[in-house]
Amino acid sequence: MSSQDYLFANVADEAELRFAALSALFDPGTFRHVDRLGIDRGWRCWEVGAGGASVPNWLAARAGPNGQVLATDIDTSRITRGLDARVEVQRHDVVLDDPPDGVFDLVHARLVLSHLPARDTALQRMASSLRPGGWLLIEDFDQVQPFACLDAYLPEHHQANKLRDGLRTLLTQRGADLEFARTLPRRLRAQGLTDVGADAYFPVASSDAGALDIANLTQVRAALISKRLASADDIAAHLAAIRTGHLDVATSPLLSAWARRPT
Ligand SMILES: C[S@@+](CC[C@H](N)C(=O)[O-])C[C@H]1O[C@@H](n2cnc3c(N)ncnc32)[C@H](O)[C@@H]1O
Repeated sequence: MSSQDYLFANVADEAELRFAALSALFDPGTFRHVDRLGIDRGWRCWEVGAGGASVPNWLAARAGPNGQVLATDIDTSRITRGLDARVEVQRHDVVLDDPPDGVFDLVHARLVLSHLPARDTALQRMASSLRPGGWLLIEDFDQVQPFACLDAYLPEHHQANKLRDGLRTLLTQRGADLEFARTLPRRLRAQGLTDVGADAYFPVASSDAGALDIANLTQVRAALISKRLASADDIAAHLAAIRTGHLDVATSPLLSAWARRPT
């Protein structure tokens, strides 16, 4: 996938809002998983498709002065704000570019691979860069759950779900696989990895999920309208409904799957 195909390009102003919302929603779960995998002083970590600085910064704090954290992205412009000086940043396309030199104790990607049509190539590159015993942690939305409002009893709830449907259509048209996350355990095994496990976290009524919806829908507003997936009025009414603070907005469940390279 070229950087032009990625639906939520970081160049847009909404990227900052998206990364703040993703961090608030999902960093605690990501950090819990990485802690459970045993991150320690001196670990060498590769954060793929980092987006913002919050995850690389936390990894750098855990890995300590003798550790190393590499944060890569096709667009690194949003990583640098507030970045820990110990984090190395590289522009890198996980599908097209060779893996970075050396081997890693931990390779992590959150909300990256489901967007990439060549997601198995990306997985292969990430798995090949693990040291024996090193962990791969992949997190992605299980977008089989199609609703923005699970308890839809008012017109604004149905409106929210219609817009989420439009967003899902746009993602699919760009080559995203909405069912990718639930296939991760078998894909990790197919890479020759062992000790496979997976779980999921599902925000159901969250102001951060509302903020994420505002960022995403504002960024793709023109595409939704030009493809007749929504009208300008639909979008404006939904954004206003979120801003009242009374709309219970859900994300998709975030599925986390992990596995290690055999020792
Ligand atoms: C939805 S954002 C998630 C950002 C961050 N991982 C998080 O969870 O907050 C997806 C990120 O993947 C990056 N990305 C998209 N395609 C990529 C590719 N082929 N190689 C590396 N990064 C990519 C985007 O630029 C963006 O920063």
